[in-house]
Amino acid sequence: MKKQPIGFMDSGVGGLTLVKEARKRLPNEDMVFIGDQARLPYGEKPAATVREFAWQMANFLRHQEIKALVIACNTATAAALPDLQAQLAIPVIGVIKPGSIAALQTTHNQRVGVIATTGTIQSAAYSQQMAALNPDVQVTGLAAPQFVTMIEANQRHGQAVQTIVNQILQPLQKSEIDTLVLGCTHFPLLTTAIQTAVGPDVTLVNPAVQAITMLEEVLTQQQLATTTPGTLRMYTTGSVAAFEEIAQQWLAQPDLTAQQVDIQKEKNDGPDR
Ligand code: DGL
Repeated sequence: MKKQPIGFMDSGVGGLTLVKEARKRLPNEDMVFIGDQARLPYGEKPAATVREFAWQMANFLRHQEIKALVIACNTATAAALPDLQAQLAIPVIGVIKPGSIAALQTTHNQRVGVIATTGTIQSAAYSQQMAALNPDVQVTGLAAPQFVTMIEANQRHGQAVQTIVNQILQPLQKSEIDTLVLGCTHFPLLTTAIQTAVGPDVTLVNPAVQAITMLEEVLTQQQLATTTPGTLRMYTTGSVAAFEEIAQQWLAQPDLTAQQVDIQKEKNDGPDR
């Protein structure tokens, strides 16, 4: 069990923000990643569709004998976390609770912004989670689905990118937030432009950091941690070349490769319990 991989799933390259953090902190773990780029964006789809796609990714990863599952996608966390946790026997970790905890630890004025996909903002998952942890917090949500498209096209730097990011984040200007949650796992790939747009007085929160702390705790508690150097396998349902280009840059590993898979025919083994 210990040497089995940890599964990571997202609609696209965004989930690599969690893989990057996990590889830094858990270098001995084997990891397997699936990005469903053929059907991206998830953020503009109904929650029921996202839940169905999340199950297909989870089933693909279950067939790789994973020992834990990280839903490296906020939209899928909002739509499918309770369902996956209830039906799978392995630990399942989402990103919204960790992101909320990190934001509440960061804010001094109790005003937190969340930028995310339309689906995540409409679910109100962040505002509900933060209110449950601290009723005094004021959460301002803003959907920024354009960022997903830009990141998947590897448009992350330069003046044209900055101009668009400034425009999209403009509504946050009067919100007086001191903390901004990157509530879509794609967004940390645009950190520089986002920080420039909101200015130095706003602290950005990447939920990946706290999510990997939770993963680490679960592996230790359940005695699932391993001690020999880990490997990374990557799969995409979309273009291998486009995925590899971003993955190689983001993970700073020029020899990384990915394989294309079709997860729609993935057999559903049903619930573990
Ligand atoms: N990375 C996903 C998230 O965290 C969303 C991207 C998409 O819209 O597919 O919500």
